[in-house]
Amino acid sequence: MATKISIQNLDLFYGDFQALHNISLDIPERQVTAFIGPSGCGKSTCLKTLNRMNDMVTGCRITGKITIDGEDIYDPRTDVNLLRRRAGMVFQKPNPFPMSVYDNIAYGPRIHGIKNKAQLDQIVEESLKSAALWEEVKDRLKKSALGLSGGQQQRLCIARALAVEPDILLMDEPTSALDPISTQKIEDLLDVLRDRYTVIIVTHNMQQAARISDQTAFFLLGEVVEFTETRVMFEQPGDERTERYITGRFG
Ligand SMILES: Nc1ncnc2c1ncn2[C@@H]1O[C@H](COP(=O)(O)OP(=O)(O)OP(=O)(O)O)[C@@H](O)[C@H]1O
Ligand SMILES: [Mg+2]
Repeated sequence: MATKISIQNLDLFYGDFQALHNISLDIPERQVTAFIGPSGCGKSTCLKTLNRMNDMVTGCRITGKITIDGEDIYDPRTDVNLLRRRAGMVFQKPNPFPMSVYDNIAYGPRIHGIKNKAQLDQIVEESLKSAALWEEVKDRLKKSALGLSGGQQQRLCIARALAVEPDILLMDEPTSALDPISTQKIEDLLDVLRDRYTVIIVTHNMQQAARISDQTAFFLLGEVVEFTETRVMFEQPGDERTERYITGRFG
């Protein structure tokens, strides 16, 4: 398996507070990797370093190295806009823009200079199909995205991320605000997307991590305690702290 993202000896500080301690992870291409662990242990922080969302936090600094396809993403020559296009992000709460379904999807491609209507139409349709939302919205593309259900909004946000042709999808608890049926739809979707994208998903749901991920990293107090094949982690955790967590004895 080729490594897509390599995190090497990553320390991260919010001011004086060290939130990540010497994280090293090699994340394989075109697989689903889950980040699990108790609240406040650094999962979102680690995820956000991968498309440099932490750049926006005043007082945040890192040491160590992160490469994507072998390129150092913290190199001063890195084009951060391009990086964020390659590594799209989906958040816990669906956050569609207050505009039509169509314009939500066309927004990114337009920013990147695509103006041709037929081309935009095609991107919108393909992205919505990839996010398993097309059938539900094809007759209301011009209606406000805010009128969609929560689960539909979240799939719209996934479609919006896919529209700029990323190769990485970073998902921070994408189903925690959703009902079981919408959650199921997103899990089914991930099962299809895994062939095309490198996906990292933060989840508090152990069953979800077990169902959908190929490997899992267990975070505790800003450290990665264990990173291994998901099946192995859930059947034979190598560290006692992992076992305590996945059997629900803390966190
Ligand atoms: N912008 C920030 N400024 C200062 N401290 C922060 C900031 N963001 C997060 N932290 C701190 O860093 C630590 C890790 O937070 P993070 O959000 O990464 O945890 P998490 O594992 O995603 O938790 P949860 O499961 O609750 O989402 C916490 O102690 C948190 O309070
Ligand atoms: Mg978080």
